[in-house]
Amino acid sequence: MTAQTLYIFDAYGTLFDVHSAVARHRALVGAEADRLSEIWRTKQLEYTWTRSLMGAHRDFWALTEDALDFAAARCGGLSSEARAKLLSAYETLDAFADVAPTLAALKARGARLAILSNGTPAMLDSAVRSAGLADLLEPSISVEEVGVFKTDFRVYERVGARFGVAPDAVSFQSSNRWDIAGAAKFGFRAVWINRSKAPDEYRDMPPAAVLDGLAGLLTL
Ligand code: LAC
Repeated sequence: MTAQTLYIFDAYGTLFDVHSAVARHRALVGAEADRLSEIWRTKQLEYTWTRSLMGAHRDFWALTEDALDFAAARCGGLSSEARAKLLSAYETLDAFADVAPTLAALKARGARLAILSNGTPAMLDSAVRSAGLADLLEPSISVEEVGVFKTDFRVYERVGARFGVAPDAVSFQSSNRWDIAGAAKFGFRAVWINRSKAPDEYRDMPPAAVLDGLAGLLTL
């Protein structure tokens, strides 16, 4: 890709570790901590898809709360203290270790970098700032601009609306294979950051490249 490439990043799971909230409060959550974290993420995403299909939007923060409440009920309950701590931690998730150095190196080459995410503007602002990435990224693009979630094409269209570029000039990175399917079908150069070494799926909507972490972007 050329030096002026526009790199657009998914946020949750790609830049920020969604399981770092439960990891910080593992003792408070108890023996089912890992299961709770998995159910929390799975339900949060399910709610985005069902609500987009129904045209019944509710923002990602509200869905994050709804999903935590379901996960807690499934896993034997959570104290109000634990619930509050987990939600607070979700506002300041850890960035993966490869994020800051890779973004800094891409930016040093002249690339433009931004997030396109289901998250609300407030969630994204908080996550970017707490991870120390504010100087590396341009203002985030939130699905709240269109009131529907990924993989609706109105979401991916926000990149062209903001930057005035054609889809095939965009390098789009996500660790979520379903997001890569949507981005590839939309026409982005979709790079699957397969952090969890997941098997491939959506084979009729393949990524342009598959990497095991963000650092591989520097040698593509
Ligand atoms: C996001 C979700 C998909 O950041 O992780 O958009």
